Amino acid sequence: MAKALLDEPRLVKNVLSASVRRLLLYQLAVMDQAGTLEGVELEDCVMLYGVQPLEAVLADLRLRIGQEVGIDLAPSYSFLWRYGRGAVVEQHTDRKASQIVATVQLASSDRKPWPFQVQAGDGLVSLEQESGDAIVIAGTHWPHWREECPSEWRLQLVLSFVPDRRGQRRFDGRAALGMPPLEEVKEMPTTSVTLGIDWADVLSDRHIGGAAAVTGCAAVQIT
Ligand SMILES: [Fe+2]
Repeated sequence: MAKALLDEPRLVKNVLSASVRRLLLYQLAVMDQAGTLEGVELEDCVMLYGVQPLEAVLADLRLRIGQEVGIDLAPSYSFLWRYGRGAVVEQHTDRKASQIVATVQLASSDRKPWPFQVQAGDGLVSLEQESGDAIVIAGTHWPHWREECPSEWRLQLVLSFVPDRRGQRRFDGRAALGMPPLEEVKEMPTTSVTLGIDWADVLSDRHIGGAAAVTGCAAVQIT
């Protein structure tokens, strides 16, 4: 196997500002309540491939993550994961369309740390992140995992990139971002899913702080 594209896992602080995360959460809330989210429901988590507003984040963060790792990257695909309490991410490496992976914490029901473990070469690295931060790894090379999720829920945006802008794994083999996955990369059939989140609570200042925060979502009737 070729050499990993990174020397070591990296924590990149605040790749998504509070105001950008707030907008993304509103978009997810609207889609959730409209019943248009499609994904795979597993025991303690829900996995959604290529949610369109999040594919836009994938495209936008290509430059920022590329600058961090010093490589000209192409977007491949995005996953949104909704983890529930006790969810475990089993140790694994990623498929070839995920040579560089940035896992971004979008929101969480609390601020409890949930360490991300990476076996990078001979070293075990444990990284903690806050909402807005990305952990960047060489997904195809380094086994990675998380122990039990300590929080009621957590939204994690997993962004995959490849180094070759013209290669066949750009857009994960799709004609464009935002399209469904190719048949050969579909892991399980999708169904209509809900994220099971109290959006009125999430979209309050308690979760989405910062000077630009709205004063709750009563005025927009999210629920
Ligand atoms: Fe992974």
